[in-house]
Amino acid sequence: MKIDEIKLDSLDTAGFIKSKSEEIASRVGTGKAVNALSGGVDSAAVTALAHRAIGDRLKTYFIDSGLMREGEPGWVVDIFARMGIPVELVDARSGFFGALKGLTDPEQKREAITQTFYKEVFGGIVKKSGATFLLHGTNFTDVEETVAGVKRQHNILEQLGIDTQASFGYKVIEPLVQLRKQGVRAVAKDLGLPADIYQRPPFPGPALAARVIGEVTPERVETVRKATSIVESRLKQSGAFQYLAILHNDRVTGMREGKRDFGQQIEIRCWESEDAVTAKPTPLSFDKLAGMAEEITKNVPGVVSVTYNVTAKPPSTIEAI
Ligand code: XMP
Repeated sequence: MKIDEIKLDSLDTAGFIKSKSEEIASRVGTGKAVNALSGGVDSAAVTALAHRAIGDRLKTYFIDSGLMREGEPGWVVDIFARMGIPVELVDARSGFFGALKGLTDPEQKREAITQTFYKEVFGGIVKKSGATFLLHGTNFTDVEETVAGVKRQHNILEQLGIDTQASFGYKVIEPLVQLRKQGVRAVAKDLGLPADIYQRPPFPGPALAARVIGEVTPERVETVRKATSIVESRLKQSGAFQYLAILHNDRVTGMREGKRDFGQQIEIRCWESEDAVTAKPTPLSFDKLAGMAEEITKNVPGVVSVTYNVTAKPPSTIEAI
Protein backbone atom coordinates (compact mmCIF):
# COMPACT_ATOMS: atom_id res chain seq x y z
CA MET A 1 0.00 0.00 0.00
CA LYS A 2 1.44 3.36 -1.03
CA ILE A 3 -0.51 6.58 -0.70
CA ASP A 4 1.11 9.91 -1.60
CA GLU A 5 0.27 12.39 1.13
CA ILE A 6 -0.68 15.91 0.00
CA LYS A 7 0.66 18.26 2.68
CA LEU A 8 -1.36 21.33 3.64
CA ASP A 9 1.24 23.79 2.31
CA SER A 10 1.20 22.21 -1.15
CA LEU A 11 -2.59 21.70 -1.32
CA ASP A 12 -4.36 23.61 -4.09
CA THR A 13 -7.97 23.14 -2.92
CA ALA A 14 -9.61 24.23 -6.20
CA GLY A 15 -7.33 21.95 -8.23
CA PHE A 16 -7.90 19.08 -5.77
CA ILE A 17 -11.70 19.47 -5.97
CA LYS A 18 -11.59 19.58 -9.77
CA SER A 19 -9.37 16.52 -10.16
CA LYS A 20 -11.20 14.44 -7.53
CA SER A 21 -14.60 15.33 -9.03
CA GLU A 22 -13.36 14.16 -12.43
CA GLU A 23 -11.96 10.99 -10.91
CA ILE A 24 -15.23 10.20 -9.10
CA ALA A 25 -17.28 10.91 -12.24
CA SER A 26 -15.06 8.68 -14.35
CA ARG A 27 -14.94 5.77 -11.86
CA VAL A 28 -18.69 5.78 -11.25
CA GLY A 29 -19.35 6.22 -14.99
CA THR A 30 -23.06 5.91 -15.68
CA GLY A 31 -23.58 3.96 -12.46
CA LYS A 32 -24.77 5.04 -9.04
CA ALA A 33 -22.95 5.64 -5.79
CA VAL A 34 -24.01 5.80 -2.19
CA ASN A 35 -22.39 7.32 0.85
CA ALA A 36 -23.03 7.63 4.52
CA LEU A 37 -22.94 11.06 6.04
CA SER A 38 -22.13 11.33 9.73
CA GLY A 39 -21.85 15.11 9.81
CA GLY A 40 -18.13 15.04 10.52
CA VAL A 41 -15.92 17.10 8.26
CA ASP A 42 -14.65 14.05 6.33
CA SER A 43 -18.00 12.57 5.35
CA ALA A 44 -19.46 16.06 4.80
CA ALA A 45 -16.64 16.94 2.38
CA VAL A 46 -17.10 13.66 0.52
CA THR A 47 -20.85 14.25 0.24
CA ALA A 48 -20.43 17.76 -1.19
CA LEU A 49 -17.58 16.66 -3.48
CA ALA A 50 -19.39 13.63 -4.87
CA HIS A 51 -22.65 15.56 -5.23
CA ARG A 52 -20.72 18.06 -7.31
CA ALA A 53 -19.23 15.22 -9.39
CA ILE A 54 -22.30 13.06 -10.06
CA GLY A 55 -25.31 15.06 -8.80
CA ASP A 56 -28.36 12.97 -8.04
CA ARG A 57 -26.62 9.74 -9.00
CA LEU A 58 -25.20 10.04 -5.50
CA LYS A 59 -27.56 8.88 -2.79
CA THR A 60 -26.57 9.98 0.71
CA TYR A 61 -27.77 8.33 3.91
CA PHE A 62 -27.47 9.36 7.52
CA ILE A 63 -27.48 6.16 9.56
CA ASP A 64 -28.96 6.74 12.98
CA SER A 65 -27.04 4.13 14.94
CA GLY A 66 -28.36 5.41 18.27
CA LEU A 67 -24.73 6.26 19.06
CA MET A 68 -24.76 9.88 17.87
CA ARG A 69 -24.78 13.04 19.95
CA GLU A 70 -27.84 14.99 21.15
CA GLY A 71 -29.98 16.19 18.22
CA GLU A 72 -27.22 15.34 15.73
CA PRO A 73 -29.16 13.39 13.06
CA GLY A 74 -31.72 16.17 12.43
CA TRP A 75 -29.12 18.95 12.60
CA VAL A 76 -26.95 17.34 9.92
CA VAL A 77 -29.81 16.47 7.56
CA ASP A 78 -31.06 20.09 7.78
CA ILE A 79 -27.68 21.61 6.92
CA PHE A 80 -27.45 19.55 3.73
CA ALA A 81 -31.09 20.18 2.84
CA ARG A 82 -30.26 23.90 2.89
CA MET A 83 -27.41 23.21 0.43
CA GLY A 84 -29.77 21.35 -1.91
CA ILE A 85 -28.28 17.94 -1.10
CA PRO A 86 -30.94 15.43 -0.05
CA VAL A 87 -30.00 13.06 2.77
CA GLU A 88 -32.13 10.12 3.85
CA LEU A 89 -32.27 9.35 7.56
CA VAL A 90 -32.20 5.61 8.32
CA ASP A 91 -33.21 4.37 11.76
CA ALA A 92 -30.81 1.49 12.51
CA ARG A 93 -30.71 1.83 16.29
CA SER A 94 -31.98 -1.63 17.17
CA GLY A 95 -29.50 -3.31 14.79
CA PHE A 96 -26.52 -1.58 16.40
CA PHE A 97 -27.58 -2.15 20.00
CA GLY A 98 -28.40 -5.78 19.17
CA ALA A 99 -24.91 -6.30 17.72
CA LEU A 100 -23.23 -4.60 20.70
CA LYS A 101 -25.17 -6.52 23.34
CA GLY A 102 -22.88 -8.27 25.82
CA LEU A 103 -19.63 -7.07 24.20
CA THR A 104 -16.97 -5.45 26.36
CA ASP A 105 -13.73 -5.92 24.38
CA PRO A 106 -12.84 -2.70 22.47
CA GLU A 107 -11.88 -4.41 19.22
CA GLN A 108 -14.94 -6.68 19.32
CA LYS A 109 -17.13 -3.61 19.81
CA ARG A 110 -15.46 -1.87 16.84
CA GLU A 111 -15.84 -5.03 14.75
CA ALA A 112 -19.56 -5.31 15.64
CA ILE A 113 -20.06 -1.70 14.53
CA THR A 114 -18.12 -2.26 11.29
CA GLN A 115 -20.16 -5.35 10.46
CA THR A 116 -23.50 -3.75 11.33
CA PHE A 117 -22.66 -0.56 9.47
CA TYR A 118 -21.21 -2.01 6.26
CA LYS A 119 -22.75 -5.43 5.98
CA GLU A 120 -26.21 -5.20 7.47
CA VAL A 121 -27.21 -1.58 7.05
CA PHE A 122 -25.20 -0.56 3.99
CA GLY A 123 -25.22 -3.98 2.37
CA GLY A 124 -29.02 -3.78 2.38
CA ILE A 125 -29.12 -0.18 1.18
CA VAL A 126 -26.62 -0.78 -1.62
CA LYS A 127 -28.42 -3.90 -2.81
CA LYS A 128 -31.75 -2.05 -2.95
CA SER A 129 -30.28 1.06 -4.60
CA GLY A 130 -28.41 -0.77 -7.34
CA ALA A 131 -25.30 1.29 -6.53
CA THR A 132 -21.94 -0.35 -7.05
CA PHE A 133 -19.77 2.28 -5.40
CA LEU A 134 -19.50 3.51 -1.85
CA LEU A 135 -17.81 6.85 -1.25
CA HIS A 136 -15.96 7.14 2.02
CA GLY A 137 -14.15 9.95 3.86
CA THR A 138 -11.11 7.96 5.00
CA ASN A 139 -8.16 10.31 5.53
CA PHE A 140 -4.39 9.80 5.60
CA THR A 141 -4.16 9.61 9.40
CA ASP A 142 -6.85 6.91 9.58
CA VAL A 143 -4.82 4.72 7.23
CA GLU A 144 -1.54 5.41 8.97
CA GLU A 145 -2.84 4.50 12.43
CA THR A 146 -4.63 1.38 11.25
CA VAL A 147 -1.60 0.11 9.35
CA ALA A 148 0.61 0.87 12.37
CA GLY A 149 -1.75 -1.29 14.43
CA VAL A 150 -2.56 1.50 16.89
CA LYS A 151 -6.28 1.16 16.42
CA ARG A 152 -8.61 -0.36 13.91
CA GLN A 153 -10.48 2.61 12.40
CA HIS A 154 -13.89 1.35 11.40
CA ASN A 155 -13.67 2.78 7.88
CA ILE A 156 -10.45 1.12 6.76
CA LEU A 157 -11.21 -1.99 4.83
CA GLU A 158 -9.38 -2.14 1.55
CA GLN A 159 -6.14 -0.99 3.17
CA LEU A 160 -6.34 -4.05 5.39
CA GLY A 161 -6.79 -6.30 2.37
CA ILE A 162 -10.53 -6.80 2.92
CA ASP A 163 -12.16 -7.13 -0.49
CA THR A 164 -15.30 -5.02 -0.16
CA GLN A 165 -16.62 -6.29 -3.47
CA ALA A 166 -16.49 -9.88 -2.25
CA SER A 167 -17.43 -9.19 1.39
CA PHE A 168 -20.08 -6.52 1.05
CA GLY A 169 -20.95 -6.26 -2.66
CA TYR A 170 -19.51 -2.86 -3.51
CA LYS A 171 -16.28 -0.97 -4.33
CA VAL A 172 -15.06 1.80 -2.06
CA ILE A 173 -13.83 5.19 -3.35
CA GLU A 174 -11.85 7.25 -0.82
CA PRO A 175 -11.21 10.67 -2.40
CA LEU A 176 -9.69 12.26 0.74
CA VAL A 177 -7.18 9.56 1.51
CA GLN A 178 -4.17 11.76 0.63
CA LEU A 179 -5.17 14.52 3.05
CA ARG A 180 -4.85 14.99 6.76
CA LYS A 181 -7.58 16.74 8.72
CA GLN A 182 -6.44 20.32 8.04
CA GLY A 183 -6.41 19.60 4.32
CA VAL A 184 -9.91 18.12 4.50
CA ARG A 185 -11.11 21.24 6.34
CA ALA A 186 -9.66 23.50 3.63
CA VAL A 187 -11.36 21.44 0.91
CA ALA A 188 -14.67 21.42 2.85
CA LYS A 189 -14.54 25.21 3.15
CA ASP A 190 -13.87 25.59 -0.56
CA LEU A 191 -16.79 23.27 -1.33
CA GLY A 192 -19.08 25.83 0.34
CA LEU A 193 -19.85 23.90 3.52
CA PRO A 194 -20.75 26.07 6.55
CA ALA A 195 -18.12 26.86 9.22
CA ASP A 196 -20.08 24.77 11.76
CA ILE A 197 -19.13 21.80 9.62
CA TYR A 198 -15.62 22.58 8.34
CA GLN A 199 -14.43 23.74 11.77
CA ARG A 200 -16.07 20.85 13.62
CA PRO A 201 -13.84 18.92 16.00
CA PRO A 202 -13.24 15.34 14.85
CA PHE A 203 -15.70 12.69 16.01
CA PRO A 204 -14.96 8.97 15.71
CA GLY A 205 -16.75 6.61 13.30
CA PRO A 206 -17.98 4.36 16.13
CA ALA A 207 -19.43 7.57 17.65
CA LEU A 208 -20.26 7.52 21.36
CA ALA A 209 -19.47 3.79 21.49
CA ALA A 210 -15.79 4.83 21.36
CA ARG A 211 -16.44 6.61 24.66
CA VAL A 212 -18.23 3.90 26.60
CA ILE A 213 -15.90 1.51 28.40
CA GLY A 214 -17.59 -1.85 28.88
CA GLU A 215 -20.95 -2.80 27.40
CA VAL A 216 -22.63 -0.30 25.07
CA THR A 217 -26.32 -0.21 26.03
CA PRO A 218 -28.91 2.48 25.16
CA GLU A 219 -28.89 3.61 28.81
CA ARG A 220 -25.08 3.88 29.01
CA VAL A 221 -24.95 5.77 25.69
CA GLU A 222 -27.58 8.17 27.04
CA THR A 223 -25.35 8.83 30.08
CA VAL A 224 -22.31 9.64 27.94
CA ARG A 225 -24.49 11.63 25.50
CA LYS A 226 -25.71 13.93 28.28
CA ALA A 227 -22.15 14.39 29.63
CA THR A 228 -20.89 15.05 26.08
CA SER A 229 -23.43 17.85 25.58
CA ILE A 230 -22.23 19.56 28.74
CA VAL A 231 -18.52 19.16 27.92
CA GLU A 232 -19.01 20.33 24.32
CA SER A 233 -21.02 23.40 25.25
CA ARG A 234 -18.54 24.42 27.97
CA LEU A 235 -15.41 23.81 25.86
CA LYS A 236 -16.66 25.00 22.47
CA GLN A 237 -14.86 28.33 22.85
CA SER A 238 -11.64 26.73 24.18
CA GLY A 239 -10.07 26.46 20.73
CA ALA A 240 -8.94 22.93 21.64
CA PHE A 241 -8.51 20.28 18.94
CA GLN A 242 -11.04 17.88 20.49
CA TYR A 243 -12.93 17.54 23.79
CA LEU A 244 -15.04 14.68 25.01
CA ALA A 245 -16.59 12.71 27.83
CA ILE A 246 -15.98 9.04 28.57
CA LEU A 247 -18.12 6.72 30.67
CA HIS A 248 -16.08 4.34 32.83
CA ASN A 249 -17.11 0.82 33.67
CA ASP A 250 -16.04 0.81 37.32
CA ARG A 251 -18.32 2.24 39.91
CA VAL A 252 -17.22 4.30 42.87
CA THR A 253 -18.87 5.17 46.13
CA GLY A 254 -20.44 8.61 46.18
CA MET A 255 -23.08 10.35 48.27
CA ARG A 256 -26.47 11.68 47.37
CA GLU A 257 -28.94 13.20 49.80
CA GLY A 258 -26.88 11.92 52.72
CA LYS A 259 -26.90 8.32 51.44
CA ARG A 260 -24.19 6.17 49.88
CA ASP A 261 -24.57 5.89 46.13
CA PHE A 262 -22.37 3.38 44.29
CA GLY A 263 -22.35 5.48 41.14
CA GLN A 264 -20.79 6.00 37.74
CA GLN A 265 -17.68 7.91 36.67
CA ILE A 266 -17.22 10.30 33.78
CA GLU A 267 -13.76 11.21 32.50
CA ILE A 268 -13.29 14.47 30.60
CA ARG A 269 -10.57 14.74 27.95
CA CYS A 270 -9.57 17.92 26.12
CA TRP A 271 -6.75 17.79 23.57
CA GLU A 272 -4.25 20.07 21.89
CA SER A 273 -3.12 18.48 18.63
CA GLU A 274 -2.29 19.21 15.01
CA ASP A 275 -3.31 15.95 13.40
CA ALA A 276 -4.45 13.54 16.17
CA VAL A 277 -1.25 11.51 15.78
CA THR A 278 0.16 12.97 18.97
CA ALA A 279 -1.77 15.12 21.43
CA LYS A 280 -1.38 16.88 24.77
CA PRO A 281 -4.05 17.55 27.37
CA THR A 282 -5.18 21.21 27.43
CA PRO A 283 -4.21 22.94 30.71
CA LEU A 284 -7.81 23.92 31.54
CA SER A 285 -8.37 26.14 34.58
CA PHE A 286 -9.52 24.50 37.77
CA ASP A 287 -12.68 26.65 37.71
CA LYS A 288 -13.54 25.37 34.23
CA LEU A 289 -13.05 21.75 35.35
CA ALA A 290 -15.00 22.22 38.59
CA GLY A 291 -17.86 23.88 36.67
CA MET A 292 -18.15 20.91 34.33
CA ALA A 293 -17.99 18.43 37.22
CA GLU A 294 -20.78 20.26 39.02
CA GLU A 295 -23.04 20.42 35.97
CA ILE A 296 -22.44 16.77 35.07
CA THR A 297 -23.08 15.40 38.57
CA LYS A 298 -26.20 17.56 38.86
CA ASN A 299 -27.70 16.73 35.45
CA VAL A 300 -26.51 13.27 34.45
CA PRO A 301 -28.34 10.63 36.48
CA GLY A 302 -26.13 8.16 38.35
CA VAL A 303 -22.82 10.01 37.95
CA VAL A 304 -20.99 10.67 41.23
CA SER A 305 -17.43 11.29 40.01
CA VAL A 306 -15.83 13.39 37.25
CA THR A 307 -12.11 13.23 36.43
CA TYR A 308 -9.83 14.95 33.91
CA ASN A 309 -7.25 13.05 31.86
CA VAL A 310 -3.78 14.63 32.13
CA THR A 311 -1.94 12.04 30.03
CA ALA A 312 -0.53 12.83 26.57
CA LYS A 313 -1.02 10.69 23.44
CA PRO A 314 1.03 8.48 23.37
CA PRO A 315 0.65 6.51 25.60
CA SER A 316 -3.00 7.59 25.84
CA THR A 317 -5.17 7.72 22.72
CA ILE A 318 -7.73 10.45 22.08
CA GLU A 319 -10.76 8.17 22.41
CA ALA A 320 -11.26 5.54 25.10
CA ILE A 321 -11.61 2.41 22.99
P1 XMP B 1 -7.34 7.90 18.73
O1 XMP B 1 -8.37 7.54 19.75
O2 XMP B 1 -6.86 6.73 17.92
O3 XMP B 1 -8.06 8.87 17.70
O4 XMP B 1 -6.17 8.67 19.30
C1 XMP B 1 -7.40 9.60 16.70
C2 XMP B 1 -8.41 10.44 15.99
O5 XMP B 1 -9.27 9.62 15.21
C3 XMP B 1 -10.61 9.70 15.68
N1 XMP B 1 -11.10 8.31 15.64
C4 XMP B 1 -11.76 7.79 14.60
N2 XMP B 1 -12.18 8.34 13.46
N3 XMP B 1 -13.13 6.27 12.81
C5 XMP B 1 -12.87 7.58 12.56
O6 XMP B 1 -13.28 8.07 11.51
C6 XMP B 1 -12.73 5.64 13.93
O7 XMP B 1 -12.97 4.45 14.14
C7 XMP B 1 -12.02 6.46 14.88
N4 XMP B 1 -11.49 6.18 16.10
C8 XMP B 1 -10.91 7.35 16.53
C9 XMP B 1 -10.53 10.30 17.06
O8 XMP B 1 -11.73 10.98 17.42
C10 XMP B 1 -9.33 11.20 16.92
O9 XMP B 1 -9.66 12.44 16.32
